Amino acid sequence: MAALTGAGMSAESGVPTFRDAQTGLWAQFRAEELATEAAFRADPQRVWRWYQYRRELIAAVEPNAGHRALAWFGKRHSGRLTLVTQNVDGLHQRAGSGDAIALHGSILQDRWLDQPRACCDVRNIEPGAPPRCPVCGNLRRPDVVWFGEALPTRALAAADEAARSCDLMLVIGTSGMVYPAAGLAHVARRQGALVVVINPAETELDEMAHLCVRERAAQCLPWLLGASH
Ligand code: OAD
Repeated sequence: MAALTGAGMSAESGVPTFRDAQTGLWAQFRAEELATEAAFRADPQRVWRWYQYRRELIAAVEPNAGHRALAWFGKRHSGRLTLVTQNVDGLHQRAGSGDAIALHGSILQDRWLDQPRACCDVRNIEPGAPPRCPVCGNLRRPDVVWFGEALPTRALAAADEAARSCDLMLVIGTSGMVYPAAGLAHVARRQGALVVVINPAETELDEMAHLCVRERAAQCLPWLLGASH
């Protein structure tokens, strides 16, 4: 069995979904316009602050019953579930799914924007928003996959393998709009797996799925996976 999760998975923990309207200071921007290398290079401070805001928000919330149910199932039925997530918030991992495949990286870490030189050393970064190498000026950036960037090769290969070999794929809390992640559901279906979408709203994957469960992840998963007792 495989599960592909998206931003809706963390919605009930209080993490806004990716395509929700942004709130407060960020209401004037669309997430899609901030999550690109071009946006970062054009205004590193602004994009870094947006990620800082999201990091603080994530640090203040907890995994919900849906994350916990998937982690419980993974432990209870060792080796039977491959969890693939588009989320960068680390909530699956905090719930106990340490082996979740993070297709879009992690917001909890950062890395160098440009190829690091000998002078680029994290022990010696110049603080700021974003921090930089004091010698060459190379910037730190969040270790997430931005629009237009390739997914981590090993994570994508492992996710693809899970999609090819599963008998059931749960597609949870994702709009199904972003590829290659959404393509995993098609791969699973072509290989003969049952595909079940769990989402309170319509998604781009509804038509290809065998079944759509119009429920919230935190409500549905404990019951569906037998983790509610
Ligand atoms: P979206 O924001 O596009 O979609 C969130 C989905 O969650 C929607 O379909 C909602 O209906 C659904 N949803 C909301 N609350 C829910 C709940 N309680 N239970 C279940 N579903 C719920 O987020 P993603 O599909 O994850 O990638 O977006 C995919 C990728 O787009 C993101 O990982 C991000 C962005 O590009 C990158 O930044 C690379």
